[in-house]
Amino acid sequence: MKQKDFIEIHDFTAREVMSIFKLARLIKAKPRKFRDALKGQTLAMIFEKSSTRTRVSFEVGMFQLGGHALFLSARDIQLGRGEPIADTAKVLSRYVDGIMARTFAHKTVTDLAENAAVPVINGLTDLSHPCQVMADYFTAWEKLRKLKGKKIAWVGDGNNMAHSLMFGAPKVGMNIVVATPQGYEPNPQVVAQATADAKAAGTKITVTHSIEEAVDDADIIETDVWASMGQEEESEKRRHDFAGWQVDKRVMSLARKNAIFMHCLPAHRGEEVAAEVIDGKQSVIFDEAENRLHVQKAIMVMLMKGRKRSK
Ligand code: CP
Ligand code: NVA
Repeated sequence: MKQKDFIEIHDFTAREVMSIFKLARLIKAKPRKFRDALKGQTLAMIFEKSSTRTRVSFEVGMFQLGGHALFLSARDIQLGRGEPIADTAKVLSRYVDGIMARTFAHKTVTDLAENAAVPVINGLTDLSHPCQVMADYFTAWEKLRKLKGKKIAWVGDGNNMAHSLMFGAPKVGMNIVVATPQGYEPNPQVVAQATADAKAAGTKITVTHSIEEAVDDADIIETDVWASMGQEEESEKRRHDFAGWQVDKRVMSLARKNAIFMHCLPAHRGEEVAAEVIDGKQSVIFDEAENRLHVQKAIMVMLMKGRKRSK
């Protein structure tokens, strides 16, 4: 892969996305074949926000590839005391072979990438969550067999997950409808960029305020929490504004009969999703969570194996 970093799915071609999926499928089927793929390499993992899946799947993933991962809470490293991002990136590049970062500002990750000599992976920012969405489309590929021409419906906040799903849909040949309450629409720049990608790919991106329009004939319904990390003080207002924005049995019944339900987790049962849906037969949430491991191992192998330092 020619890219040094994994920041947005938008940065990759449809072919590259498919080659990551194919490698992930191989790694999932024969993990022992890859146990020395990143032998002796180290991944630094910077976290400004909480995490269960991202932390564990990257750490275990590096271990299974023969490497090692370092958990660095932003509070404990000097970055949290004001050391410049550029200096942090340059120093870490002298010790480690890759950096994964979960940050508030998206710019923190892009600044890390610009200044690091080693690959930088976006482990979630306020703007996007590409590793999760790669795992989600990979899961959809496993479940639906073919993604081309299929429809994914997003029901909820126009947040980081919605943005990455919009960037990913044209790359996997899917149409996406994003339905949000008034005032919670996705970032217009992301919509514009993803729409241009969709046009080039011959797929469709629609943004609406109608749940019914989104889920009609959908093959996948996906949602996420009403208040993301960093929006805790808005929780009360959002609970009010998102009233009625729950994926329940009725919403699922409007999609295709064999539609699957997705959620990146963590979830709030009784808010964005009814327990009977997320814990029901159509839900694939734990496959999505598991696939984080396989897909991220593929991403790390693609970016880190045999790479010469750029600076
Ligand atoms: N879905 C996801 O990224 O989960 P964590 O916040 O637990 O990493
Ligand atoms: N939108 C959520 C995703 C968590 C994995 C958040 O940013 O908190």
